[in-house]
Amino acid sequence: MIATTAPAPVVTPTRMAARLAAPQPEWTTTCDVLVVGSGVAGLSVVTGLAGSGLDVVLVTKGVLDAGSTPWAQGGVARAAHADDVDAHAVDTMTAGAGLCDGAAVRRLAAEGPAAVEALIALGAAFDRGPDGRLAQTREGGHSRARIVHAGGDATGAEVQRALTAMATGALADERTTIVEHTCLLDLERSDDGQVTGALVAQASPRLGHRGRIAVGRVLARATVLATGGLGRVFASTTNPPAVTGDGMAAALRAGAALRDVEFVQFHPTVFAGPPMDTGQALLISEAVRGEGAMLRDTYGDLVMAGVHPLADLAPRDIVATRIAQVMAAQGTDHLYLDARHLGAQRLEQRFPTVVAGCRSAGVDPVTQMVPIRPAQHYSCGGVAADLDGRTGVRGLSAVGEVACTGVHGANRLASNSLLEGLVAGSAAARTLRDDLPQRTPGDVVGEPAGVDPSTRATVTSAMQHDAGVLRSPQGLSALACLLEQTAPTRGGASTAAAWEATNLHAVSTALVAAASARTESRGSHRRTDVTEPSEAWAVHLDTTITPGQTPTLVSRITPV
Ligand code: SIN
Repeated sequence: MIATTAPAPVVTPTRMAARLAAPQPEWTTTCDVLVVGSGVAGLSVVTGLAGSGLDVVLVTKGVLDAGSTPWAQGGVARAAHADDVDAHAVDTMTAGAGLCDGAAVRRLAAEGPAAVEALIALGAAFDRGPDGRLAQTREGGHSRARIVHAGGDATGAEVQRALTAMATGALADERTTIVEHTCLLDLERSDDGQVTGALVAQASPRLGHRGRIAVGRVLARATVLATGGLGRVFASTTNPPAVTGDGMAAALRAGAALRDVEFVQFHPTVFAGPPMDTGQALLISEAVRGEGAMLRDTYGDLVMAGVHPLADLAPRDIVATRIAQVMAAQGTDHLYLDARHLGAQRLEQRFPTVVAGCRSAGVDPVTQMVPIRPAQHYSCGGVAADLDGRTGVRGLSAVGEVACTGVHGANRLASNSLLEGLVAGSAAARTLRDDLPQRTPGDVVGEPAGVDPSTRATVTSAMQHDAGVLRSPQGLSALACLLEQTAPTRGGASTAAAWEATNLHAVSTALVAAASARTESRGSHRRTDVTEPSEAWAVHLDTTITPGQTPTLVSRITPV
């Protein structure tokens, strides 16, 4: 259940769109469960519903593997043995800096080993040692090696492959329909607020819509958001192009609360150079430090010595903050990751993706230190939900990165994200098998509005500058002004560029409002004016929008 309390005095009114501009729907289809998104969480819902007798439609914005899951490098964290469950939970809560839901964390840790075994049973091939047992590594914040990995540093690709093979192959039946190149526009709602399906926009040459977009309605008894995070809100991110906050923005417009959206995880080590062709920063897995690599500053000194007992393997927020502070103090835009002592054979075998990526960018980690800096990586906040996917809105579930289930708190523990997608996706499927709302008529209501897509780059650059690793009140105020200047106006264009710009703007607005309200430093939210956590702020911030012709944003405090 989502707890609610009386509003606290942290209101930041900011203009939002009530709905996206879109032409009339050209087609309608009806199903029991609509799943939006095709990463680990969405595919876990689909595989979990196989054989249920329910009609399932999965829509995904690009092709099935266009989301964040295949880019995950490090692995899947899970208790190494029965006695490690408590320690996994403790490490998760320590990283979460006081905002985790203890029950949700204990459940994640307890269900982790079975979730990984279930994935192996579906065909996922994890790396094994010479004795045939699963190989395990460490990453930041973990008190022991408990992370399983695949293809060295290509874990996400293997998870995506195995789940896709099941969803489209062995577990596919005539009751499951998968539709690619179809993005979520808005959620439909009944008069009493139940989500009754979605408006989607389909742009698929294979479906006969070459050069045009066809809007359609998918009517569903339950809609599951599995749309991933908000990475493209920032100019520098490890997230692929599809990750534009569509699910969070649509949920907000449909009356759901975004919880703790100010807690954006910045990965400490991305390659400090031009982004890849997809616009993503090249991730240098934390597992490289897990295997012994060290951070060095411009003088060659160790960056993390004396900063935290776990040094280079401190929780991610602490390492990213330290790197940002040292870069500022030394007047540089990058520091270095030194993995040279690991040697060619170990680096090439264990980290083929990282080594190939660095070499193609002109740096050989075997012989050279790798220039690194932090970049946006993961959204710890999202649509308020429990670990079964239930949100406060009937008919609407949220699983994976789009959701805030209490397992990450103010800072996610490394490699807990694929695990959460597996556990929550399967749990949501079980819950929906048992409890589907009755079908009821609904619609998308409100005045269409949209953001001018030509403002997108200005907003994402400003978010990078002022809502990044270190946040100042002046920077956040400047951002709030920019977001007001670029706010949606009535009408808006019915184009993919305008829809994405409007969703990015909505999520940025919620993020800046929450970051401005939270006058403390905690987890991945670091303010330059208040550098310590405050007991008074050991609370969640839930952001909703007021209904009406010109919706505005409201933040409310909710106890942990
Ligand atoms: C990494 O490999 O460093 C990323 C793992 C994660 O995001 O949990």
